[in-house]
Amino acid sequence: MIVRRIGRRLVIIAAIVLIAGVAAAAVATRNLRSGKTGGPLQAVSAPADVVARGKYLAAAADCAACHTAPGGAPFAGGLAMPSGFGTIYATNITPDPDDGIGRWSAEDFWRALHDGIRRDGRQLYPAMPYTSYRGMTRSDADAIYAYMMRLRPMKVANRRTELNFPFNIRLGMLGWNVLFLHDSLPAVSAGSSPAWQRGRYLVNVLGHCGECHTPRGIAGEMELSRALTGFALSRVAAPDITPSALASRGWTAAGLRAYLGRGLARQGSAFGDMHPVIMLSTRNLTAEDLDAVATYLLGDKAPPPAPAATESAAANDAGRMSYVALCAGCHGLDGNGVPNTVVAMRDNSTLRLADPRNLIVAMLDGIGAENFPHRASMQAMPGFSDKLSDAEAAALANYLRVTWGGQKGDVTPAAVQALR
Ligand code: HEC
Ligand code: HEC
Ligand code: HEC
Repeated sequence: MIVRRIGRRLVIIAAIVLIAGVAAAAVATRNLRSGKTGGPLQAVSAPADVVARGKYLAAAADCAACHTAPGGAPFAGGLAMPSGFGTIYATNITPDPDDGIGRWSAEDFWRALHDGIRRDGRQLYPAMPYTSYRGMTRSDADAIYAYMMRLRPMKVANRRTELNFPFNIRLGMLGWNVLFLHDSLPAVSAGSSPAWQRGRYLVNVLGHCGECHTPRGIAGEMELSRALTGFALSRVAAPDITPSALASRGWTAAGLRAYLGRGLARQGSAFGDMHPVIMLSTRNLTAEDLDAVATYLLGDKAPPPAPAATESAAANDAGRMSYVALCAGCHGLDGNGVPNTVVAMRDNSTLRLADPRNLIVAMLDGIGAENFPHRASMQAMPGFSDKLSDAEAAALANYLRVTWGGQKGDVTPAAVQALR
């Protein structure tokens, strides 16, 4: 395993060095040929229906998620994206001539989305998900461009990336692209219907769902052979959302449509990094496109959802006491929650995950009210980190997993401690 990893790392470094040398010359001459920073302001005239389609596609592709700083103007950039290699800032993509993309042609825009190349000919980092957008059709990219060029130009200067050597050398990405920029789309399920085809495009390309749900290799690349099998990029892990895993946690097409369309389904509600995905992106999808996404995630022949876990007497008393004292007021003594108001614990997908991480994090951190602006009357779920010791939290997690999750009661106090 380790040998394989080192071998792969050597291959990557060799490729980067080799290709970088050749490319440096090419890029240098190209930049000399054309002054790539100036140029005329682009006047884009597109029919209203194309602009409207571009707006819809930009939402489906969730461009705003990264290109908007907290509290900042939409698309004016500035969001800091920390990575193991340093911090990358998303850029201003409003049509400001100096700070934004006001001088970019449709061709320049296409190269950014499809090839990961900026207008000045330099490489983008894959924090901009061009490895997913690579599969975008030219006509969809042009529609997004037409929409972006109609936005109000914002004078917001871009911040410099703060990456450590050698990652601060953008040319290195040429080698990375040779290895990891693919033209073919993975298929996580079996299907061929028009809805399935559309869903495959929406999930892999526009929705770039794999950027969080697909495991990453040592160079930060998505391991497409394990597409959507789950990964922990931040505190709340993105679970396995391939057909059999979804079915094992009780998901149906109707459940997925409700979850992605409004953030709340019988199987659970969205929290962590998934919540903004739904708020900014998937809840804008048409009913037809939501159906396409569900069809692709489950396949043309959806596997039957696993039946509800049968309540087990093996659940522990200490956990039950904590549940009654702290949780039942909202989630119900019977675990049924309050329909359309507070999600049920019975059969909740988070309790049915083999990995207890998300359950523990939800209990410790709580879920902020900002997580459900569309249900303004709802009270937030408080965090319980100061009310539960490691042993109590572990017992509660085990009670929930055994009683309603169909899982083992194998959470240890150390596992809770590690997530504090
Ligand atoms: C997951 C976060 C993320 C999403 C989603 C995203 N971007 Fe980006 N984008 C970035 C980052 C980060 C950069 C800067 C990368 C760098 O400095 O190499 C960037 C750079 C760009 C650039 C180059 C701008 C410049 O001045 O060099 C363009 C154009 C762009 N994005 C357009 C888009 C569009 C259009 C969408 C939606 C279809 C989109 N981005 C979605 C993170 C994102
Ligand atoms: C004040 C009401 C309230 C209390 C008390 C409460 N919760 Fe919650 N809980 C919520 C709300 C609201 C959500 C967000 C999901 C939703 O929209 O219903 C939530 C979400 C969750 C989730 C995430 C699952 C999902 O699908 O969103 C878990 C797990 C959870 N609660 C467990 C607990 C546990 C364990 C306790 C007791 C230690 C507890 N909750 C106490 C209201 C509460
Ligand atoms: C920014 C990271 C991110 C992106 C992008 C993302 N997800 Fe998620 N997703 C998560 C996280 C984190 C969770 C766990 C929180 C939860 O269960 O609500 C999650 C949960 C889910 C779940 C619920 C799983 C379960 O059993 O509870 C589904 C379904 C899902 N995502 C589908 C999608 C689809 C479809 C897309 C693309 C349109 C997508 N996700 C894009 C991070 C992401």
